[in-house]
Amino acid sequence: MAIHARENSWILETQHTAYAFGVHTTGLLSHRYWGAKLPYLDDYPGDLIKDKLVAGSTVYEEFPFNGLGNLVPQEYPTGAGTEYVEPCLKATFADGVRDVWLKFERAEVADLELKIHLRDATYPLRVTLHYRVWEAFDLIERWVVIENEGDTPVTLERIWSAQWHLPIGGHYRLNHLNGRWANEFQLRREPLVEGVKVLESRRITTSHHHNPWFGVDRGTADEEHGDVWFGVLAWSGNWKIAAEVTDFSSTRVSIGLNDWDFRWSLEPGQSFTTPSSIAGYTDQGFGAASLHLHDYIRETVVPHGGALHKVLFNSWETTFFDVDESSQVQFAKIAAEMGIELFVMDDGWFHGRNDDYAGLGDWWPDEKKFPHGLSPLIERVHQLGMDFGLWIEPEMVNPDSVLYCQHPDWVIHFPTRPRTEGRHQLILNMAKPEVQDYIINKIDRLLAENNITFVKWDMNRNVSEPGWPDATGEPRELWVRYVRGVYRVWETLRQRHPHVTWQSCSGGGGRADLGILRFADQIWVSDNTIPTARLAIQAGFSHVFPASTMEAWVTDMGEEFLPLEFRFHVSMCGVLGIGADLRQWGEKEIAEAKKWIALYKEIRPIIQQGDVYRLGSPFTDDFTGVQYMSKDQMSGVLFAFLLHRVDPVAPLILYPRGLIPARLYTIEGYPGARSGAAWMKTGVIVHLSNFSSAVRRIWGEK
Ligand code: DGJ
Repeated sequence: MAIHARENSWILETQHTAYAFGVHTTGLLSHRYWGAKLPYLDDYPGDLIKDKLVAGSTVYEEFPFNGLGNLVPQEYPTGAGTEYVEPCLKATFADGVRDVWLKFERAEVADLELKIHLRDATYPLRVTLHYRVWEAFDLIERWVVIENEGDTPVTLERIWSAQWHLPIGGHYRLNHLNGRWANEFQLRREPLVEGVKVLESRRITTSHHHNPWFGVDRGTADEEHGDVWFGVLAWSGNWKIAAEVTDFSSTRVSIGLNDWDFRWSLEPGQSFTTPSSIAGYTDQGFGAASLHLHDYIRETVVPHGGALHKVLFNSWETTFFDVDESSQVQFAKIAAEMGIELFVMDDGWFHGRNDDYAGLGDWWPDEKKFPHGLSPLIERVHQLGMDFGLWIEPEMVNPDSVLYCQHPDWVIHFPTRPRTEGRHQLILNMAKPEVQDYIINKIDRLLAENNITFVKWDMNRNVSEPGWPDATGEPRELWVRYVRGVYRVWETLRQRHPHVTWQSCSGGGGRADLGILRFADQIWVSDNTIPTARLAIQAGFSHVFPASTMEAWVTDMGEEFLPLEFRFHVSMCGVLGIGADLRQWGEKEIAEAKKWIALYKEIRPIIQQGDVYRLGSPFTDDFTGVQYMSKDQMSGVLFAFLLHRVDPVAPLILYPRGLIPARLYTIEGYPGARSGAAWMKTGVIVHLSNFSSAVRRIWGEK
C-alpha cells in the first residue's frame, strides 16, 4: 500500500522513499518526514515541533515574536496570524480581509491519490491539497485546487503548488539551472543560509534564465552518493521557487506560479487548479535524481515516450529565411544520401517571410517561394525516403503581416504605451479564445493538407507591456490564461493529429519544462550549436530531461577548431540532427557523416531509452564523460570529450557505471572481457589530445 492513513496523519510511500505529515496538536497541517523509506510505519516521526524543536519548553510559542506557524513546518502555510515564513497562499476576501486561516476538514484516499480538504475558518473557501504517489519513480506529485463556495469573489494573489520541507536542522546547498539565451542550463550550486533565495520567470514563458527545477543536498552529494531532494514545476509560464531557511533551522522549497503581477478573481462557484510540482528524494546522488525524472518523463509525460526519434536535417543555420523548393530539394538529396530520416524546413516558408521583419501570423506558404504550395517539396522528400517536418511560431505576429492589419488588437499591449517589439514581432494574446481558434484553424489546415509528421513550435521573444485592454475580468489573469491558451491550442492540434511529433523551441531552451512536454516530445535545447558550449548546456539539461527530449544538431559552428568527429559525438548524446550547409561538405565529410549517422542509429535505443551517467562534468572537470546504458544493463556507450588540458600527458580515466558487477563486459578498444565490477572500479583510460573526443561501445556477455 502506498498511502497509509491513521489518526489524521498520512504516510506516502514509494519504492524507496517516504513522505509523512499530519494534523498537529494545534490544528495546523504539519510536515513530518521526507526521505528514505523506513522499516516500520511507527518509525516515522510525529509532531516535530512537539518532539524535537521545543523539547518540553514552550518558550518559542509563548514569546510573541515567533508565532506557531513559524515553528511548525506546515504543508501549506498561508501566513495566517503571526506567521512570517513564505506562505503558499495569499488571498483577499470581498470584505477586505486579507488572510486565509485554513482548518483541516477531512481526507480522502483513493488508490494512489490523497486529498486533504481544508477550509477557511470563517469564509466559504475550500482548499484541497492533492498528493499523488508515483511509486516506481520514487516521486510525489502535488497540486492544489481552491474553490470559492461563497457568493462573492475572492482575489487570489499567490497560489503555489507545494512547499517541500527538508529534514529540520540540516545545512543545505541549492543546485539550480541558470542561464540566458544561447547559454541555457548552467548548473549552479550555492549554500542556503537564513533568508529566501528566489528563482523565477517573469517573461511569460519558462525562460532561458532559470529552469523550474531544484536539487537540494547537504553540500557533499555527488553523482553517485548523498542525499538529494529535487523537484520541478510542470508549468510553461511565469513561475517561482523560494528556497527559505528560517531562523529555526527549517529549510523548505516553495514552488508554484509566480505571484509577481499575479491576480486571479475567483468567482462564486469557481475553482482554480495549480500546476503540479513533482519531487523526489534519493540517497544516491544527483545521478539517481536525474534518472528518476527521466523515467517519469519518458513513461508518463511525453506523448510518444517509447518512440525512437529520427535523425533530422534542419535548414535554419544553412539557409536562414532563404528557403524555396529547389534549394530545399538540393539539401534533401544530400541529406537522404547521408541516411537522414526526417527533413525539417525551418523559418522562411510562409507568406511574406523573407527576413524577420514580416510574415509571422500568416501561416500559408509564400506564393513566390512555393507557388504550388508545400506538396511538391513534401512529395520529393518522401520520394527520397524521408519524413517531412515544418517550423512554426504561432504565438507571434509581425506588424508587417495580413493578420496584424486585420487584428491589431489581438496582441498583448497597453493602449497608451508603445508596443515594444522583440525581433520585430509582437505577442498574440493567447488568453483570447478567438486568437487560439485562429491558430488552431491555420495550423490544423496546414497539417490536414500536407503530410507533415514533425512540427517545431518556436517562440522568439519575451513579454513587454503585459496588458489585456479588453479583458472582461481581471487583466492580470493574463499570465496564467496565456499559458492555458497555448496548452489548449497544442492539445487540440495534438488530438487532431496524434501522429505528429512536436518540438518545443523558444529561441533554444526558453520553454523547457514538464508542462510543455505533455504535448512536445522534444526540446530544442539552445540556439548555441558550438559543441564546446553545448557540452555544458547538455550536461545541465540532463539533470532534468532525458536524452530522448534533447534535439542536438551538428552544424558548421566550431568547424574552425573542432573536428567533425567531435561535433558529431556531442550531438549523438541526444537526438541527433544535422543543421549544417551540406552543399559545402565535400565527399570526405559526407562519408564521415554517413558513418556517424549509421552508428547513431545502432546506439540510439540505448541513448534515447536508456540510463545516462555523467562521468565527467564540463562544470567542474577538465573533461566531459557521458555514458548511456540500456535498461537491461547489457549494452552501453561511452563518450569522452577533452577540450583543453594543461598537461595532456596525464591519463584521462573514465569510471563506467551501471554495469552488473559479476557480468562480463567488453568495451570497444580494450582487450578482453572483464567483470562489470572491474571496469567500474579500475576504469578505462581514454587517450585524447586537446579538442578531441571518443566513443566506445560496451557489450555485456549473455
Ligand atoms: C529560433 C530557433 O531557436 C532557431 O532554431 C530557428 O528556428 C529560428 N528561431 C528561426 O527563426
